[in-house]
Amino acid sequence: MSGCPYFQKKFLSASKPHLKEEENDDSQSGINKASKGGLIYGDYLQLDKIVTSQMLQSELKGNKIHDEHLFIVTHQAYELWFKQVLWELDSVRKIFTSGHVRDERNMLKVNTRIQRVVMIFRLLLDQFSVLETMTALDFYDFREYLAPASGFQSLQFRLLENKIGVPQNQRVPYNRRHYRDNFRDQENELLLHSEQEPTLLQLVEQWLERTPGLEEGGFNFWGKLEANIFEGLSTETANIEQKPASEMKEEMMAEVIKQRDIFVSLFDERRHDHLLSTGQRRLSYKALQGALMIYFYREEPRFQVPFQLLTSLMDIDTLMTKWRYNHVCMVHRMIGSKGGTGGSSGYQYLRSTVSDRYKVFVDLFNLATFLVPRDWVPKLDPSEHSFLYTAECCDSSYCSSDDSD
Ligand code: HEM
Repeated sequence: MSGCPYFQKKFLSASKPHLKEEENDDSQSGINKASKGGLIYGDYLQLDKIVTSQMLQSELKGNKIHDEHLFIVTHQAYELWFKQVLWELDSVRKIFTSGHVRDERNMLKVNTRIQRVVMIFRLLLDQFSVLETMTALDFYDFREYLAPASGFQSLQFRLLENKIGVPQNQRVPYNRRHYRDNFRDQENELLLHSEQEPTLLQLVEQWLERTPGLEEGGFNFWGKLEANIFEGLSTETANIEQKPASEMKEEMMAEVIKQRDIFVSLFDERRHDHLLSTGQRRLSYKALQGALMIYFYREEPRFQVPFQLLTSLMDIDTLMTKWRYNHVCMVHRMIGSKGGTGGSSGYQYLRSTVSDRYKVFVDLFNLATFLVPRDWVPKLDPSEHSFLYTAECCDSSYCSSDDSD
C-alpha cells in the first residue's frame, strides 16, 4: 500500500519531528512504519467500519444478487453527503443564532458553507445515474428482501428538510400517518426537536428584517418604492390613453391593470398575512421588503454578499426539487406503478412531493414578479446614504468571527 502522502509521510513527520526524513520514509514498508506510532489512513477514516458495512440481504438469504452491492453503496454515499449537508447547515444556523451574523464579516462564512451545500446537491443529482445502470429486472431480483425498509425512513433526509424549513403542514400525507410515526422513538424525538429549533428559513427571515435602509424614519425604501411604482404606473396609463384606439392599446392597458393589481397586493400587508396563513408566502412582510431591497441594490457593496446568499438559497430549493424529480423518475423506471417497500403508493406518492409545497424559499423565487424598470427604483446617493458602507456591527461581543466549531 503506497498510501496518501499526507496521512503517512507528512503526518508522520509532523508527529515525530525528531525523525530524519529517511527514517520517516514509508515508501518501502509504508503501513508498517506508519503503524509504529503515527496515524494511518485507514484508521483515521475508520475504513474498517465503512467498507465492511455492505451486508447484502440477498446473500444472507442464500441468493446473492450482484447489484444489491451497488444499491447499498449508493444509499450509503447519499447518507454520508446528507451528513455533511447537516454539518454545514448546523454551523450556519449556529452563526445566526449566536448573533455572529450581526458582524457582517461573518456573512462570507455563511455564504461559503451554503454554497458548499449547493455543490453537494449538484453532486447528489448525478449520483442517480450510477444506480440507473441497474435494470428494473436486476432490482426485482432482490427487492423482496428489502421490505419493509424504505428511503422514507431516512432520518437525515427528514432532518435536512426540517432544518432548512419545510413546513410541517405542507407535507404530503403518507400512509395516513404522521411522518414521524414511521421512525423509532429516539429518531422521532430528534425529528421533533428539529421541528422546534429555528429553521434556516426563520433565521434568514430575521436577518432580512434587519436589512439596512428599511427604516421608515431613514431611507424608507418601502415607502419610496411604493410611491415610485404607482407614479410610474400612472405615467404609463396616461401614455397609453393618448394612443389611438386599437387592439394593441387594449392589450397594453390590460397589462398595466394587471401590473397595478400585482403591486396593490404587494403593498397590502393584510393580503400578505393572508398568503402567509395559506402557505403561499413564507417570509414575514418586513423580510420580504428586505429581500426585495437586496435584489434591487445587489450591486451596492453592502448588498453583494447578501444577494449571493439569496441566490444560493434558491439554488438549494431548486436542487432539492430536482433531487425529488430525479429520484421519482428512477423509481418509475425501477418499479413502475407498484407500491413502495415502505407502504406508499410509490411513484404516485413521490410525484406529489415534486411541488412548491416543499420549496422553502418560495418568496425569493417570486421576487422576480415585482421587478420594475431601473428608474422606478428609489435612488441611492452614496454620499448621503452612509448605511451602504457601514457594517451593522457595533457591539464588540458580536465581533468574533469564531463560531466555535
Ligand atoms: C432503485 C432505487 C430506488 C427505488 C426503487 C426507490 C423507491 C422509493 C419509494 C417507492 C419511495 C416511497 C416510500 C415507500 O413507499 O417506500 C422512496 C422514498 C424515498 N427514497 Fe427511494 N428509492 C430508490 C433509491 C433511493 C436512493 C438512492 C435514495 C438516497 C438516499 C433514496 C431516498 C429516498 C428518500 C429520502 C425517500 C423519502 C422521500 C419523500 O418521502 O419525500 N431512494 N423511495
